[in-house]
Amino acid sequence: MEPQLESATRLFGGTMMSPVPDPYPVYRRLRNERPVVVLDSQLGRSALVSRYDDVAAALKDGAAFSSRGNARGIGLVMGRTILEMEGREHLRQRRLVTPAFSPRALREGLDVVVETIVNQLVDQFVNDGKADLVPQFTFTFPLRVMAHVMALPIDDFEQFHHWALDLLSISDDPQRGFDAAQKIVDYLRPFLEERRATPGADLISTLVHAEVDGEKLTEEEVLSFLRLLLPAGAETTYRLTGSLIHALLTHPEALDQVRSDPAGLDRAIEETLRWEAAVQYVSRETTREVEIADTTIGAGELVMLAVGSANRDERRFDDPDRFVLGRENVADHLAFGFGEHFCLGSNLARLEARAAVRILLDRLPNLRLAPDADGRIVGLAFRSPDRLPVVFG
Ligand code: HEM
Repeated sequence: MEPQLESATRLFGGTMMSPVPDPYPVYRRLRNERPVVVLDSQLGRSALVSRYDDVAAALKDGAAFSSRGNARGIGLVMGRTILEMEGREHLRQRRLVTPAFSPRALREGLDVVVETIVNQLVDQFVNDGKADLVPQFTFTFPLRVMAHVMALPIDDFEQFHHWALDLLSISDDPQRGFDAAQKIVDYLRPFLEERRATPGADLISTLVHAEVDGEKLTEEEVLSFLRLLLPAGAETTYRLTGSLIHALLTHPEALDQVRSDPAGLDRAIEETLRWEAAVQYVSRETTREVEIADTTIGAGELVMLAVGSANRDERRFDDPDRFVLGRENVADHLAFGFGEHFCLGSNLARLEARAAVRILLDRLPNLRLAPDADGRIVGLAFRSPDRLPVVFG
């Protein structure tokens, strides 16, 4: 069967980057009626795959579903990054960069750094009795953590936050994305030279000097990887943290469990990743003709694997639209991808979200949504609350 053509705007009522409030009823319909449709969006045509088993199978099958699909979207501004590499090249790069993200590397003092950054932000509004936690808190803290991890001057933080956001505007304003990519490289290059000569304990030094079997990363590889990390590390974790806070403040029973049992917070993080995947799509390109759910997709086609829809597939998760702590199979979620390209920063993202929420709950007594709060989780390609007005004390 040939897949049917659908316009993203008509199907979801918005563009890939617009604040679409609730795509999930559309996904439910697609999963049940048309598990593969061809979507026409600003990024061109792509086959949208919405069922859990189909998404997971494609992510596992790198030979038929090549990650070079990533080159057609974000890869245009990122340069050649690990995201679009395959086979031996990917393995080599992965082995070189993985040690920098191991749980051990993250334990060595990073939790204290994250807590310090979070506390400094909370200091700024703790006496006000109210705050909008998106602009005042979630939006900035992960990028501050990335700045620390890379040992970049914190005073430059505002500047590279703009660049990181501009990078992601590729589908709406490509020129802005290209300009930001160049500015980030120009900014980072002198730091590489400095750390090559005088290494420190930071991520840039680790990457510049990383060596496996006598091989090292080239300067261009390090620059592309660092450029990827700004949005990969900041855009995503802020969204996870916002959705987690939103979920807890709108589910009082879950909030009680998190307050009374430290393990409850880890369960809440996993359920948030399942319930509101911050990154809703993973792209692949078919290397040959493939068949998914009785639908034929030709060779060389772009495929959008809708992990946000897969995480809500009723075939995999009971009552999937409900936010429930303690689901047995919550760890099956695909929010960090699956297979060879599984997210390298998953441990860091969890560490950051955990510290952020624990400190907020400790320091802001009786934290609750503001009575007139209209904060909601929005977005199509990426999802998180656009506002989080809260009161406390
Ligand atoms: C909630 C937060 C995060 C989410 C939802 C997320 C999501 C993802 C997803 C879905 C992939 C797979 C992409 C694919 O298969 O094409 C991925 C890969 C990756 N992520 Fe994350 N990510 C998060 C946080 C982070 C952080 C904090 C970092 C680093 C500081 C990071 C670095 C990476 C890298 C380097 C890859 C590429 C891995 C590879 O291609 O082998 N991510 N992420």
